[in-house]
Amino acid sequence: MRHGFDIGNYDEAFLLDALGRNVGSGPAGSGWAAVEGLIEGLEGEGADGSTLVQAKSLADSLNIGYSEFFREVLGFACLETLVLPELFARRRQGSARGEIRIWSAACAAGQEAYSLAILCEEQARLEENPSGYRIFATDVDEGRIEEARRGLYSRESLRRLSLGRLEDFFAPAGKAFSVLPRLRERVEFSRFDLVSDPGTCPPASIYGHFDLVLCANMLFYYRPEIRARVLSRVASCLAPGAYLLTGAVEREIAVQYGFVEAFPASAIFRLSA
Ligand SMILES: C[S@@+](CC[C@H](N)C(=O)[O-])C[C@H]1O[C@@H](n2cnc3c(N)ncnc32)[C@H](O)[C@@H]1O
Repeated sequence: MRHGFDIGNYDEAFLLDALGRNVGSGPAGSGWAAVEGLIEGLEGEGADGSTLVQAKSLADSLNIGYSEFFREVLGFACLETLVLPELFARRRQGSARGEIRIWSAACAAGQEAYSLAILCEEQARLEENPSGYRIFATDVDEGRIEEARRGLYSRESLRRLSLGRLEDFFAPAGKAFSVLPRLRERVEFSRFDLVSDPGTCPPASIYGHFDLVLCANMLFYYRPEIRARVLSRVASCLAPGAYLLTGAVEREIAVQYGFVEAFPASAIFRLSA
């Protein structure tokens, strides 16, 4: 309350782990042992602003933004070889609207959204009559959205990219690599909080009706009720026959909620009928 940050939504094991790391007192998971000291620190009135520093550091350790290009290796392989060809074929056969709609729902600094854009560009090149696609990418963290718009990445976060893709879609920028404008303009970034913003889908998308949603590596942060709320929002934004990709570690969560695995072990799901 004092610092305007609600930790009540977080999964207990995740929270304890973060607390353990934050107070730096022993191994991850030993959080409760140090919680009292931390609370005292947060409640104290450090004239030097030290309580704010402590609260900020706790908030930061709860808000993990790690991502990289093509992070979910099996998931992206299935998207490339099965899901996107199917979505493009449906368009080609006229069995759906003219545009494929994709949402990267916790996109961090854009790595996941640009990975998708690379796959869509490559698939579109194979089409005689390339159908359009739109990628909406959102995250709760405004700073990460700004980074995503800048599109500048270290070699490390691009380590899963082939040399061909690196040359096709990036330009060297000092020690980093910059996403080429033609790829950057394929993704529309905006801020959206999946837990507490009103509405079920990002306002930038106007209406949901997505053919593919990626909600990866953020569900496990949260308590089961919150995960259910997020997945229920996502479910209500899906077009008929649409796919959902979660993190590989989140497969059980999606199954519990009633999603059905589309390809074994892939963490790609469809909504059960
Ligand atoms: C570990 S990163 C995962 C990024 C990417 N999806 C991936 O799999 O590499 C988790 C992201 O979820 C975002 N996030 C956490 N809570 C969120 C919420 N309530 N709404 C939207 N994004 C959220 C964080 O800001 C962070 O960028």
